[in-house]
Amino acid sequence: MGCRRVLGIETSCDETGVAIYDGAEGLVAERLYTQVGLHARYGGVVPELASRDHVRRLLPLVREVLDEVGAACPDGVAYTAGPGLIGALHVGASVGRSLAFGWGVPAIGVHHLEGHLLAPMLEADAPDFPFVALLVSGGHTMLIDVTDVGRYALLGESLDDAAGEAFDKTAKLLGLSYPGGAALAKLACDGDPARFRFPRPMTDRPGLDFSFSGLKTFALNTLQSIGEDARGRADVARAFEDAVVDTLTIKCRRALQQTGRRRLVVAGGVSANRRLRVHLEDMANAHSVRVYFPRPAYCTDNGAMIAYAGYRRLRAGEVEDLVIRSRPRWPL
Ligand code: KG4
Ligand code: ZN
Repeated sequence: MGCRRVLGIETSCDETGVAIYDGAEGLVAERLYTQVGLHARYGGVVPELASRDHVRRLLPLVREVLDEVGAACPDGVAYTAGPGLIGALHVGASVGRSLAFGWGVPAIGVHHLEGHLLAPMLEADAPDFPFVALLVSGGHTMLIDVTDVGRYALLGESLDDAAGEAFDKTAKLLGLSYPGGAALAKLACDGDPARFRFPRPMTDRPGLDFSFSGLKTFALNTLQSIGEDARGRADVARAFEDAVVDTLTIKCRRALQQTGRRRLVVAGGVSANRRLRVHLEDMANAHSVRVYFPRPAYCTDNGAMIAYAGYRRLRAGEVEDLVIRSRPRWPL
């Protein structure tokens, strides 16, 4: 096999991720630089600042992983080609494609969501195909029937806000800094689950689509109705988290029943959520289904998942021409 060691590059949003995946040894080196501090005071990612910071960080990180494995170059390069912020994607795509050209090795542009949904395969206990995947990130909420690498059938998706986006927007209402998903989950631990009950959107009718935008309005109205209640913020956080977790769990159960699959893979930033993990485990156990999660560090954006997805694609014989492609919108 020509492509043993693949360098993966992720720059679709606000993390500069670099890793080397080795077909024989697995992940052999990785680096992640997060720009969270850079964007925090703006309350969200500023695209131009993100691109410029990727320019600054990327090449030194590539140097570091190559030095760590003692290699002058890898056998192939994979970079996130989309979807994501156009400028940020361009940095990873131009650097990745150009390095591959200079080194005389093949390059491949990877779909960011494919990276997320293959991430659980980096674990020792990797899932086999086929499986149902729940992809829950800041930009996407999707249920996908996965039969092989590159064989993805969309079962359902969010019609408005993604689950992570709903977490972040509600966190902002609660006065938490961006991205507030993890902080909201922490606040919810002190909340009383019995005080408020939020709706479970679109669960009272058939289908596998989601709608989360109404929950932040519900949170806002609830916060306004309680005024300066000291415990209120934690109780609202808890009610919101319970509603999202319940809704995702109900739809996963439905997707498993509809497809007859016995494996569930959960990926994307929101899959780091503890309560979601526990609920999905319980549901899966009750239905003799196995559920697979990436480790928390591979739930959010990283270079390892891109290196792995690129390795699978290059191993299957896929290569790209010399055109540098970034696709800010790109269906899976
Ligand atoms: O996959 P990801 O790193 O980036 C995208 O591709 O969007 O996901 C980031 C999202 C953010 O919305 C963040 O708030 C959310 O994942 N997130 C969480 C948790 N950790 C990260 N949401 C809920 N609970 C968490 N523990
Ligand atoms: Zn992502």
